[in-house]
Amino acid sequence: MSSHYVKSDIEARKISFDFSKTSIYWAGSPFITHATNPLHMLLPPGELWFCRVFNNALSEITDPQLYQDVKGFIGQEATHAKSHNGLLEFYKENNIDLSEYVKSIDLLFKNWFEKKPFNKQWLNPILGKKWLLFQVGMIAAIEHFTAVLGMWVLEEDRLNDIDQEVLRLIRWHGAEEVEHREIAFKLFKHLCETKIGFYFGRQITMAIVLPIFIIVWGRAIKYSINQDQILDKNTIPTTYYKILKAIEKESKITGKAPSLKYLLASVIRWGSPFYNPKNEGNDQIAKYYFQANSF
Ligand SMILES: [Fe+2]
Ligand SMILES: [Fe+2]
Repeated sequence: MSSHYVKSDIEARKISFDFSKTSIYWAGSPFITHATNPLHMLLPPGELWFCRVFNNALSEITDPQLYQDVKGFIGQEATHAKSHNGLLEFYKENNIDLSEYVKSIDLLFKNWFEKKPFNKQWLNPILGKKWLLFQVGMIAAIEHFTAVLGMWVLEEDRLNDIDQEVLRLIRWHGAEEVEHREIAFKLFKHLCETKIGFYFGRQITMAIVLPIFIIVWGRAIKYSINQDQILDKNTIPTTYYKILKAIEKESKITGKAPSLKYLLASVIRWGSPFYNPKNEGNDQIAKYYFQANSF
């Protein structure tokens, strides 16, 4: 397929981060820092998995514009993964070692969602190309959440007083998530043979992604709290129920955590046959962020 004359607006921006002046509790409180740390723990292995899957999908794309957009998407996600790793290194230097958890997520993707479907080699010949379709569908469902979270970090003014370098990291990332929010959805649609298959494929992959997302996010928070050697654990909620309640409370009172109710409401929108990622974000806000920050 010739795609040399087609250009994509989606491309990786050059950026670097310096966390040398960052405080461990960059969000202002230990709880909010640990409750939002899963962003940095799950995204680097997850986004590198996106890149590997989408690289495999490139040969299946027959639309030159989509081909270039997917290449741009891969470039952006690879840069995101690398940038969050910088914050994980900063934590490690400050005696909060989250690397084992990150490795376990990397292995989860590699063992269950990559070369061996659900860690079963014998499923390969049975599923054939449907496995790639399933992987892309999962990424489309995850990208729904990254777009919703991207809009949240861009629009929530009460985040303005957190550590400025971490704020720069999450707002730049959020803006690129909003910018490329349609690509995984479009790729999944492109690879599905029928409209009905596309609709039910979206629902099945979300039904798998949502519980995994909740479980790994909750475990990541608990892991992050446990790895913090200086924190008095009596001052912070450590059970799932209390953590979820505290996140919802923080989202209302301080605005420094995303509302779980808001995230779940967005899943209901995903269930509609008329769902379109275009309606989940605002291109103008993302563009304004890039312009205002000289990208
Ligand atoms: Fe990303
Ligand atoms: Fe993304």
